[in-house]
Amino acid sequence: MEATASQSLRTEATASRVKIVIDCDPGHDDALALLLASRVCDVVGVTTVSGNAPLGAVTNNALRVLTLANLEVPVHAGADGPLVLPADGVVPHATHVHGATGLNGVTLPEPGRAQSGDDAAGFLIDASQRYPDLWLVAIGPLTNVAHAIRRDPVFADRLAGISIMGGSTTGGNVTATAEFNVWADPEAADVVIRSGAHIRLCGLNLTHQVETSAELLERISAMATSRARFAAEVITYLHRRMTELRGRAAAALHDPCAVLAVTHPSLFEFHRLPAAVELTGTLTRGMTVFDQRHAARHVTPQIDVAFHIDATAALALIMKALEA
Ligand code: RIB
Ligand code: CA
Repeated sequence: MEATASQSLRTEATASRVKIVIDCDPGHDDALALLLASRVCDVVGVTTVSGNAPLGAVTNNALRVLTLANLEVPVHAGADGPLVLPADGVVPHATHVHGATGLNGVTLPEPGRAQSGDDAAGFLIDASQRYPDLWLVAIGPLTNVAHAIRRDPVFADRLAGISIMGGSTTGGNVTATAEFNVWADPEAADVVIRSGAHIRLCGLNLTHQVETSAELLERISAMATSRARFAAEVITYLHRRMTELRGRAAAALHDPCAVLAVTHPSLFEFHRLPAAVELTGTLTRGMTVFDQRHAARHVTPQIDVAFHIDATAALALIMKALEA
């Protein structure tokens, strides 16, 4: 039977779209990243990692967001804590931002299905073998990614690249120097950055260029789709929480930036720099260090660090992904 025009367009669009697997810790901005990814690329699977909230919560959140997005892809749970626990033995979370469930303040459907497994690292390795030119978008602590690298020495090279939301070329958010995803598992971030993978990194210096506003919220609230209604709840919650925490009704859309770094790299300005993670500093543990000195131009490992994004275009793509 002849494919209809829209079917062939969809096929063609799917054929030309980049394939990604997303490692996440939903998380309000992770949820928006999943909705965006479901429209701008070919998501082959999702893995979850303890981060914004405990592993069980973020896995349930991922299943529910994917149900809302009508994205029927495998979901594999992974690490329930960092490679090295902090001295107090407490697994780090960001429930002070995202709430005890990891997605407080929003309405989501019940999961349309159960998780597919609990070996995220194994799934990431399998996916890298099954899909040539696969990108890994890592938008939570890098624990699962580090396990995959340690388990399969060829994994990092097999990937087209790893797009990370993490770190910062300026200040931190959890401490004066450390961003949450790296701070929550610095040893994992160190393993990933030293892996030799082709890495694009969107740090806080970049993601704070893409911020929500009351005007954006008004435009999303006027859209009549279930995705837009959910996104409006997400942003409403974040505006309220950011007002309480920082006195500003604005939220950086951190994780969607890491998706766009793969699907729309022309929106970004990247600099390839020597990179490292501080593991032992009293005030600086979890800090990402990028050496911008000319003298360091031959130091390795080097990764592509994002310094600028066309925020207007980025927000337009995020909005478009909320349409029917
Ligand atoms: O620091 C921002 C990052 O930490 C984002 O990925 C957010 O979801 C939290 O995980
Ligand atoms: Ca996240």
